[in-house]
Order: sequence, then structure tokens, then C-alpha cells
Amino acid sequence: ITDVRESMYLVSEFAKKYFHNVLLNTDEGQAIGYSYFKERGFTNETIKKFELGYSPETWDALTKEALGQGYKLEFLQSTGLTIPKEDRPFDRFKGRVMFPIQSMSGRVLGFGGRILTNDKKAAKYLNSPESELYHKSKVLYGIFQAKQSIAKQDNCFLVEGYTDVIQFNQAGIENVVASSGTALTPDQIRLVNRLTKNITVLFDGDAAGLRASIRGIDLILEEGMNVRVCTFPDGDDPDSFARKTPYEDLVKYLEENAKDFIQFKASLLMDEAKNDPIKKADLIRDMVTSISKIPDRIQREIYVQECARIMDISEQVLVSTLAQLIQKDI
Ligand code: CTP
Ligand code: MN
Ligand code: MN
Ligand code: MN
Ligand code: MN
Repeated sequence: ITDVRESMYLVSEFAKKYFHNVLLNTDEGQAIGYSYFKERGFTNETIKKFELGYSPETWDALTKEALGQGYKLEFLQSTGLTIPKEDRPFDRFKGRVMFPIQSMSGRVLGFGGRILTNDKKAAKYLNSPESELYHKSKVLYGIFQAKQSIAKQDNCFLVEGYTDVIQFNQAGIENVVASSGTALTPDQIRLVNRLTKNITVLFDGDAAGLRASIRGIDLILEEGMNVRVCTFPDGDDPDSFARKTPYEDLVKYLEENAKDFIQFKASLLMDEAKNDPIKKADLIRDMVTSISKIPDRIQREIYVQECARIMDISEQVLVSTLAQLIQKDI
């Protein structure tokens, strides 16, 4: 089993270098992949730091090269780099720009590949399939590049996408990782928890995603971490915002707009409920559920006071609802 994993690591490492080399040193890579990254404002330094790449349009360019160098088809297939097809196995990522996904220690676990067109029919990003090596729910994109900065800053910014991580790095903020578009999992939270107790979740600026994302944050509270959240103007994501904002202004924006999660959620739900008593009852239960996830009793008590104030209700109501919920948990 260890041999299998090791062989999968080796072929993934090879593919990372191959895609990176194609991007920098071939005509097709330059004309298509490199110019795409340039258009997005990525510098050469950034391209090197994240070892970004390009996978040629050719049916089996990577597969052929890897086989030629002695890598086994078995491992090209088990990593998902190659898709089996009778006598003509082909490259999964052909014609995409490539984002290698690395472990905390820098080993290549898988890839994300982006199409270059804005063709709404094709999936914008294609990722490595689940394998012995790649478990989507256990990786955080950028953790290898971010770990030192997260420990030093004692805070981790969490974003949705690959390009958010990259653009933040380029802007000078390195303590940032991406969940890659999925709801955060306990395994991902524990990766961050090894480095800091503080996490700041940055949302894409579309109100639609906000409600759904907020649900997942209870998991972070459950791990005993301190959570802050920050939204961006409508239509912006951290990538687009960072790209047009000078470093000092970006830092200032984050400082001024990052809010304590419980307070943020209470205010948001209050805005929605307005003066509707039934909605308000629902939101009290919702808030208390979040508070009940916090392991520290004193912290829970402080949040009860805060929420009572924000939602303009008596602490007693929250305290008794909380007592019920915590009872049920035991
Ligand atoms: N994602 C994915 N598959 C998709 C769409 C999204 O895996 N079909 C993941 C990617 O990791 C992506 C993240 O979800 O980075 C966030 O999605 P989105 O906000 O739509 O993409 P962006 O990162 O903003 O990508 P871009 O700026 O390149 O359009
Ligand atoms: Mn495994
Ligand atoms: Mn999004
Ligand atoms: Mn986005
Ligand atoms: Mn984007």
C-alpha cells in the first residue's frame, strides 16, 4: 500500500513539473496558458511560487511523456491524470491551466484544471478524482505556501477558490487557504487548527452563497476556534477585489470589515426577520444552535449577552433555549 502511494506521489510530482515546464517553455504553453495567467494579472513570481502549469490540447501529451520516462500507466490512471480508453488512454486535463494541490508538507496530491474559455456548458474547473492520494475533503489549497504565515500572523484567511489564494499572495497576504468551493469539513478545520486558533472566512460577494456558507461555520466553532467573517462588495470575490486594491487599502478593508461571526450572523438574521415574530423565533433557535457549538462555557455566556443585545430580547430566553440544546447534545 505504501509503495502504491509513493508511486502515485512520484507520478503527480512529475506531472506538476511537466505542466509547469509546458507553460513556461513551449509555444502552445506560452500562447495559451501563460497569456491566460498574464491576463489575470499573475506575475512570473506567482506562477513559480504556486508552480502553475498548462496541459496541452493534445489527446495524450502528458501520458505519452510519462510512459516514455518509465512511469507506469497504472499510477497515471489511479491518480486520475490519465483516463483509460481501450487502446488510447487520454489526458484528463488537456487544454487547461493547472493548479497543483499540495499537502502541508508540499507533496502533490492532485490538481485543479481551469478551462480558458467562458463556455458555460463545460465545467469551469475540473479536479483530480478521489484516490488513495487525493481526498477533496481533507485538502486545503495553498496550505503549503501559507503555513508559516498563518503561524506568524496567528490567523488564517479562508477563501473559496484557487485564484483567491493566488491573488491574495500576490497582494502580499500569504496566510490564506481555499476550501475549493465546497463546504468546510472537520478535517480541513483541523489542518488550520494545528497552526492557529483564529480563522477569518472571506465570502464571495454574492448574497446567494452567503446563507449556505454560514451554516458550515458552526463546524469551526465546534473545533473551539475563533471565527471572523468578511464580505466583499457585490460582484467581487477576494481575487477580483485584491487585484484592484493596493496592499494598504486591502489590509485596511479586511481590518475594518472582518466581524465576529456570532455578531455578524445575529445582525444578518435580524435584518431578515425585521418585525416578523415567527421568523424571529426561528432565528433565535438558529443563533442559539451556533452558540451551543462553542466548547468554552464562558465564551458561550458572553455570546448570549451579545446576542440578546443585538436581537433585542431577554438573555433569559436565550439561556433557557441554550440549556435545552446542550441537554439534547449530552
Ligand atoms: N470549483 C470547482 N468546480 C467548478 C467550480 C468551482 O471545483 N465547476 C471550485 C474551484 O476550486 C474554485 C472554487 O470552487 O476555485 C470557487 O468557485 P468560483 O467562485 O466559481 O470560481 P473562482 O475561484 O472565482 O474562479 P475564477 O475566478 O477562475 O472564475
Ligand atoms: Mn488515504
Ligand atoms: Mn463563488
Ligand atoms: Mn470566486
Ligand atoms: Mn473569481
